[in-house]
Amino acid sequence: MKNIGYGKANGKIILMGEHAVVYGEPAIAFPFSATTITATIRPSDSFRLHCSYYKGSLEKAPFTLKSIKTLVQQLEKEYPIGPILIEIDSTIPAERGMGSSAAVAVAITRAFFDLLDKPLSQEELLAYVEHAEQIAHGNPSGIDAAATSGNNPIYFRRGQPFTPFDLNVEAFLVVADTGIKGQTRTAVKDVAYAVEMEHELVEPVMPRIHRLGQLTREAKEAISQNQVQKLADTMNEAQTHLKELTVSNDLLDTLIHAAIDAGALGAKLTGGGRGGCMIALTNTKEEAQVVCKALEKNGAVATWIQGLGVHTYA
Ligand code: MEV
Repeated sequence: MKNIGYGKANGKIILMGEHAVVYGEPAIAFPFSATTITATIRPSDSFRLHCSYYKGSLEKAPFTLKSIKTLVQQLEKEYPIGPILIEIDSTIPAERGMGSSAAVAVAITRAFFDLLDKPLSQEELLAYVEHAEQIAHGNPSGIDAAATSGNNPIYFRRGQPFTPFDLNVEAFLVVADTGIKGQTRTAVKDVAYAVEMEHELVEPVMPRIHRLGQLTREAKEAISQNQVQKLADTMNEAQTHLKELTVSNDLLDTLIHAAIDAGALGAKLTGGGRGGCMIALTNTKEEAQVVCKALEKNGAVATWIQGLGVHTYA
């Protein structure tokens, strides 16, 4: 065993397919390296957890804390190494649809195995993270674990080996944080309830889920042909379905409209919704900067610009 173990993970952005991915539809996501989490673990005289999160966002994120505890208990049961000090440093806002709960589990598991000086396969890592994510998310599709643990964009289907996927499109994505915690767990549960009650509802739910899956396939095609407007169209339609599934909220709607008014080609929420983050697509970096300004004016607490495409991504 070493004296200290380190582990790292990225945040993630879901470009298309959130919620539908829970029901077996495809989704496209990428590790968002503008936000990261690092975990350091060392032997200690008592068990201690020190967390430093983006703007104190871990406070009042009880399911993330509970999932960290569950993960550490599992690791300690399998490898009883005595009391440890875990230090977590995160620039990923907690509960904002950026994969913070999966990323913290990835970083801790990596740090723990680094401390043990033991190799950790991707399959083993994902199994630990999925267990922790069941606490944080209730019914995770696995996309957050897959995206936050890797270095490449992915085309993901639940239960299937996921494939790296080049975001081969010359465009820019603005990511904006509403500053509102959006509990993915609750949003996923509410969609599940609507699916269960489908026959009682005036508006059937499953056709929307399937349409979201189809839009993801269309987005994949648009990306492979560098058709930015077509990709934007799929994002705009996806947002209308996500809104009908009740996972958007007022500020997300305001920011999405503000982005389009400021010249974005497409915009939608990303991740679990009900708060958290939205994304907007532009052709150029300059246009993305104009969109960022409009979003900040309309209530976004933070914005980022991510170049898509094979050259800007790496
Ligand atoms: C959360 O980042 C994405 C959801 O589709 C849930 C999941 O896939 O586990 C809302």
